[in-house]
Amino acid sequence: MAGNRSAVDRDAPGHRLSGILFDAYGTLFDVYSLGSLAEELFPRHGAALATLWREKQIDYSRLRTLCDRYVDFLTITKDALLHSCARLRLDLSEEKCQRLLGEYVRLPAYPDVLPALQRLRAHGIPLAILSNGSPEMLGSAIAYAGMSELFTYILSADQVHKFKTAPEVYQLGIEAFDCPAGHLVFVSSNGWDACCATWFGYRTFWVNRAGDPVERLGVLPTGEARNMNDLFGFLGLG
Ligand code: LAC
Repeated sequence: MAGNRSAVDRDAPGHRLSGILFDAYGTLFDVYSLGSLAEELFPRHGAALATLWREKQIDYSRLRTLCDRYVDFLTITKDALLHSCARLRLDLSEEKCQRLLGEYVRLPAYPDVLPALQRLRAHGIPLAILSNGSPEMLGSAIAYAGMSELFTYILSADQVHKFKTAPEVYQLGIEAFDCPAGHLVFVSSNGWDACCATWFGYRTFWVNRAGDPVERLGVLPTGEARNMNDLFGFLGLG
């Protein structure tokens, strides 16, 4: 059970820490909150649409990266919405489409996020976002959540025209901080993202909000917990 693995640090403490990189969607911002608006627009189908939309969004980001057919994350997000509605036989008008897409720039942050980020900044730790999101999407969501002052860098996959889990995207973190990967911690709620960042060389912390089983990839995130509060123990900040 995931609960038995909470706040596990599979690595030795005492690492040098130059900064922390955060995934955005699902980690800082609740992408499944879209289910409420989806439910209002499509009664009894909101949760299914929110889940399928997210799955197709990640699916398309991987397919376009594998085949070197980059378009920005907002385009992928819209394409995934169109496909998901068609798959669920939901009639998506242009107005409904714009309302759902509009939610992406004002997703609520999870309640543990802002206090944790503020506490990390109080410790003097530089913070960054490393996300598939386009700079415009990220900038709007961060501003809406009142987090604009907290991040030193907003690193977007758009800079390299590939999406995670391409190493070129993870590379943006070490280039920005100008330090070895082992001096940075990468935080994600997506198990696959945490595993692939571990392969890249980061110390990783999997915020396993959903209590998902571990990915079977032959690699584990360095640490794991159910929310952001346990990050402090992982970092040796008590
Ligand atoms: C991101 C997606 C993967 O923010 O959640 O990069």
